[in-house]
Amino acid sequence: MSDIRSADVLIIGSGAAGLTAALNLADRFRVTVLAKGQLNEGSTAWAQGGIAAVLEPGDTFESHIEDTMIAGAGLNDRAVVEFVVENAPRAIERLVELGVPFNTEGGGLHLTREGGHSHRRIVHVNDATGWAVQEALQRAAEAHPNITLVPDRVAIDLATSRHEERYSGAGNVWGVYAVNRESGHVELFTANATILATGGAGRTYLFSTAPRGATGDGIAMAWRAGARISNMEMMQFHPTCLYNVEVKNFLITEAVRGEGGRLINPTTHKRFMTYYDPERMELAPRDVVARAIDAEIKRYGLDYVHLDISHLDPAFVRGHFPTIYEKLLGLGIDMTREPIPVVPAQHYTCGGVLIDRDGRTDLPHLYAAGEVTQSGLHGANRLASNSLLECFVFGEACANHIAANWADLPPPPAIRPWDESRVTHSDEEVVIKQNWTEIRRFMWNYVGIVRTTKRLERAAHRIKLLTDEVADYYGHFRVTPDLIELRNLLQTADLIVRSALHRQESRGLHYTLDYPETLPEAVDTILVP
Ligand code: FAD
Ligand code: SIN
Repeated sequence: MSDIRSADVLIIGSGAAGLTAALNLADRFRVTVLAKGQLNEGSTAWAQGGIAAVLEPGDTFESHIEDTMIAGAGLNDRAVVEFVVENAPRAIERLVELGVPFNTEGGGLHLTREGGHSHRRIVHVNDATGWAVQEALQRAAEAHPNITLVPDRVAIDLATSRHEERYSGAGNVWGVYAVNRESGHVELFTANATILATGGAGRTYLFSTAPRGATGDGIAMAWRAGARISNMEMMQFHPTCLYNVEVKNFLITEAVRGEGGRLINPTTHKRFMTYYDPERMELAPRDVVARAIDAEIKRYGLDYVHLDISHLDPAFVRGHFPTIYEKLLGLGIDMTREPIPVVPAQHYTCGGVLIDRDGRTDLPHLYAAGEVTQSGLHGANRLASNSLLECFVFGEACANHIAANWADLPPPPAIRPWDESRVTHSDEEVVIKQNWTEIRRFMWNYVGIVRTTKRLERAAHRIKLLTDEVADYYGHFRVTPDLIELRNLLQTADLIVRSALHRQESRGLHYTLDYPETLPEAVDTILVP
C-alpha cells in the first residue's frame, strides 16, 4: 500500500470538486483525499435542485452566460463564465458515464427550471441530486487503485516553505497538518501539489442551509498561508429554508418555485413578489427574492412567509419532490394541501480563494476548486445550480494543469513535524462553544441580508475582541476539531466584514442602506494578507 502521508497530489475535501479532481488525476498520479468527517458530509451530498447545462436545441450558451452575468450583477469574469458554461454539457456527460441516474423524459434528460434561468436547463435526480452525484463520484474514487480516501482528518494549516527543515524562502505549499479525530494526534500530509476543495463558510451564520462542517477552513488556511481572498461580502442567502422549531436548516429547493410555487404573505394572503419584481416574480434571482421575503417579514412582524405549491396536481408534486414531501410530512406538513413556512438562510459563499482559469492560487504548488474559491464565475450573486457545475469544471482544470506542468512541481523537501511541546489540554471547552455561538449570532444580525456601516463596524469590533481571546486559547492549548473550526470561523467572519466595509455600493448580494446605489464600474474586492 502506498504511503497515505506522502502523495503526488493531496486533495483536501471529498465533495464534488475534490473527487472530480482526484478522478482526473488518478490514472497518472498517486492521490490522497482528506475529509474532516465522513466522505459524504460536505454540501455536495445535500444539493437538491440540480446542475445547470445547455442541453436543448432551444437553449444557447449565450443565454446561460447572460443569465449568469445578470444574476452576478456584472461582477463576473465573462471569460470564466464562458469557460464554465461551454464545458457544462461535457461535465454532465461524464456524470452520466459515472452512473448518476438523472431524471429522463422522452428519451433525453428531464430539465427543470430555477430562479434567474431564462430556460429549463437544470438536470436533476428528483430533489436529491447531490446525494446521487456524491455516491457516483465516491464509488468511482473508492474503486480506483491510485486514490486513497482518508476520512476524519481535520486540516489545521497548510505546510509551506516556513515549515521546511531547511528554509528555502520559495513560498511553496507542500501539504497540510491535520488532526486525526480518532487518535487526537496531528499528522503531516505532504505532496508535490495540493488542491483545496474544502467547500464554503455557511456556518459563519446562525441560520444556514449548509452542513455543520462548512466553517471556511480552506479560505482561512489559504489566507494564513499568504493567498489573496476575494469578494467575501458576497454571501448568498437562499430565499426558502424551512421554518420549523425542530429542523433548523432544511432547504426547500428553488425548483419548487421553478415548477410554479408561489410566495404568499400569511397576513395579507397576497402574492407579494408582485410588488418587488412583477416581471420575474418568484423566479427573480435569489438576492431579489431573499430581500423581498426579508422586507415582508420585517414590515409585518412575521416569523416566516408561505411557499405554496398546493394548487398543482398532488401526484406531480409528490413525483417531483419526493424527498421534501416525505420530510415535511414527517413534520406534519402536507405540501400537496397546504403552504410551507419558509425563511431565508445563508446558503452559498460566492467569495473565496482567488484562482485563475487553471485553478491556481497565488501560492506555488497550491490549487483550489469549488465553493472555497472565487473563480470569477458567480460575481455578486451565484445563479442557481451553477455551483456543482463549477466544481466539475474547475476540479478538472486543476487536474489538467497539474498534469501538464508536472515537471515544475518537484517533490517536497523535509518538513518539520507539528510541535506540541508548549501546549496543554484545554480545561475550558465552554469558551469554544460560547464564542462559536456569539460569532454566528452577530454575523446573522449585523452582516446579513440588509447591511449598514454601523452594524458592520459593530461586528468588526466584536471580531477584534474575540480574535485576541481565540489566539490566546490557540497558543496555549492542544488543537481539537472544534478549536480549529472556531479559529477558522472567526477568520472567515473577519474577511467577510472587512470586504463588506470595503464595498461602498450595493451590488448583488451586498446590500447596504448607507450606499444603496450601484457604482458604474464592477470591481472585485480583493484582500491581500
Ligand atoms: P463540499 O461538497 O462542501 O465538500 C467539502 C469537503 O471538504 C468535505 O469533504 C469536507 O469534509 C472537507 N473539508 C472541509 N474542511 C476541511 C478540513 N479542515 N480538513 C479536511 N477536510 C475538510 N449547488 C448546485 O449547483 N445545485 C444545487 O442544487 C445545490 N443545492 C444545494 C443545497 C444545499 C442544502 C446546499 C447547502 C448547497 C447546495 N448547492 C447546490 C451548493 C453546492 O452543493 C456546493 O456549493 C457544492 O457542493 C460544494 O462542493 P465542494 O466540493 O466545493 O465542497
Ligand atoms: C436549490 O435546490 O434551490 C439549490 C440550488 C442551488 O443552490 O444552486
